Amino acid sequence: MRLKEFSQACENNKNPILNALKKYFLDVSKVLEVGSGTGQHAMYFADQLNWLTWQPTEIKGRLSILQDNCKLSSRDNLCSPLVLNIFEPWRKMQLDAVFSANTLHIVPVAGIEAIFSGIAPNISSGFRIAIYGPFKYEGEYTSESNATFDKWLRSQNLDSGIRDFELVNQKARNVGLKLIEDCVMPANNQLLVFGA
Ligand SMILES: C[S@@+](CC[C@H](N)C(=O)[O-])C[C@H]1O[C@@H](n2cnc3c(N)ncnc32)[C@H](O)[C@@H]1O
Repeated sequence: MRLKEFSQACENNKNPILNALKKYFLDVSKVLEVGSGTGQHAMYFADQLNWLTWQPTEIKGRLSILQDNCKLSSRDNLCSPLVLNIFEPWRKMQLDAVFSANTLHIVPVAGIEAIFSGIAPNISSGFRIAIYGPFKYEGEYTSESNATFDKWLRSQNLDSGIRDFELVNQKARNVGLKLIEDCVMPANNQLLVFGA
């Protein structure tokens, strides 16, 4: 499969994430992915989690890369990518789960609230959101490499940076979600799974 753009990190993290999603997305039928990037997660999870439908999304400027890559998948449970900027009004759609990897440390901190506000209309019993990436706990990094990564992120964009778990947890609670599990992932990442 010749991808227009390829992420080695996605290849490395897709199986550990899949193992957790198999458990937490078992009763889910429609997943919206925020910030799908190259679409590698979307294509892989649609293939492996064949009971659900996967809706990849991206900001406008990155949509064509995602579209080109997703065309390489033959899975009919992978929807055509849609534009979604978390800071703009979210289109109405039926969904009972959300997935996002490595987006919270890229978007400004207000993006955390934007995501939880965006999904709020869809939250009902059984709803799930799984958020993958590095986090700080009580202001501390989980590793030296995450501290270095955070410095690098901020040098690229002052609005980017590794987020505090406690802030994400609070914003989730504000819309009626509870932490189901904080899964420790390889390479000093976490998969935060919240549910209603
Ligand atoms: C580090 S990449 C992660 C991509 C992919 N999820 C992965 O794990 O490889 C961050 C992604 O967030 C997207 N993004 C940035 N700002 C966004 C916004 N305001 N709304 C939605 N997505 C955004 C970027 O286009 C990019 O694809």
